[in-house]
Amino acid sequence: MRRAPSSGADFVALLLLLLLLLFLFGRVRCSPEYSLGRSSSPATDSLCALLIRPSGYPCSEHIVETKDGYLLTIQRIPHGRKALKGKPGPPVFLQHGLFQGGDTWFMNSFEESLGFILADSGFDVWVGNVRGTRWSHGHTTLSVYDKAFWDWSWQELAQYDLLAMISYVYSVTNYKVSYIGHSQGTIMALAAFTMPDMVEMIESAALLCPISYLDHITSSFVLRAVFMRLDEMLLSMGIHQLNFRSDMGVQIIDSVCDGHMDCNNLLSSITGENCCFNMSRMAYYLEFEPHPSSTKNLHHLFQMIRKGTFAKYDYGFWGNLLHYRSLHPPAFDLADIPDSLPLWMGYGGKDALADPTDVQHTLEELKSKPELLYIDNYGHIDFILSVKAKDDVYGDLIRFLKSRGCSSSY
Ligand SMILES: *[C@@H]1O[C@H](CO)[C@@H](O)[C@H](O)[C@H]1NC(C)=O
Repeated sequence: MRRAPSSGADFVALLLLLLLLLFLFGRVRCSPEYSLGRSSSPATDSLCALLIRPSGYPCSEHIVETKDGYLLTIQRIPHGRKALKGKPGPPVFLQHGLFQGGDTWFMNSFEESLGFILADSGFDVWVGNVRGTRWSHGHTTLSVYDKAFWDWSWQELAQYDLLAMISYVYSVTNYKVSYIGHSQGTIMALAAFTMPDMVEMIESAALLCPISYLDHITSSFVLRAVFMRLDEMLLSMGIHQLNFRSDMGVQIIDSVCDGHMDCNNLLSSITGENCCFNMSRMAYYLEFEPHPSSTKNLHHLFQMIRKGTFAKYDYGFWGNLLHYRSLHPPAFDLADIPDSLPLWMGYGGKDALADPTDVQHTLEELKSKPELLYIDNYGHIDFILSVKAKDDVYGDLIRFLKSRGCSSSY
């Protein structure tokens, strides 16, 4: 039950929420901290150099240009710690979630992190990084200071970023790509898999915390932000980039967490209770995350929560007529995903973002019957950072990938 507070109390609560966002998470601002333009990240500030090679894995950086001019960096780990003779194994593509980057797959030890485990299991691992993240902030004509640079939501991430990245991997490896996505990486996939061009490059797909419908979300933090119309407020304030990270922000989070506040609770209020999150690695995670995204993306997600739809961005009456020649934004039809595409889904009973009720809704609309792994005590972050994820999740996920299609012939 949501009670409508008096407007005075509402205003104070709203200010408090903003302060919480601005100071707990860092500052919302246009970030000057990333280099601009066409050049790729300097070798010292790349995912390969910072996280992957130091762990003893081979890694190369690749720049992919999207149809609308964004320059994305994707990483390739062609094999595990032991060099293999001959050609690389089957390609697998990892797509991170909202406010995350490709680093998310490599932040625990090589025995715990999915990216490393896949490389050591014989896969040719490719790592996606969507526009706006630390690893993918280039554009052919725009800079991160331009409002237009941030004029997109997950819809463009599906239609442009994912298509460009998967096409690149497909053309380099000459094999259909196995897809693994988490959270927003699953919205992108489910939207993109309704496109025939996309699906013919995909071997199989494993979705961690799958999201298409969002109207049963239980995250107290997100529900509060939706209720207060944080998205619309930020847009009306002219804030188009959402960057919860800055040196100051990280210092503040560190000092707040350091014995004064249980940051596990802050994380829980956003993502749901995570059973197996290693709190002693928090400072390390915060060296890389959260990554920036666009306010328009947040607005699109909040539209889905408010309306219970899995549809394109709602521009309002005139905007919809202009963009879609219809009063309402067109819905994505999950039944357009061919049932020949093998799907696997992992979801958790404590997940406050990908709620099991919404997962059921997704399943009802799909033509195919995905293989399912339900873990009662897993929250949203457990699926990537749980210290037990290898046994709880990745074993079954890798069994699924290896059982499908041509990958079994390796
Ligand atoms: C948790 O993180 C600490 C600090 O990085 C590490 O020493 C420890 O091994 C981790 N625990 C597990 C179970 O992975």
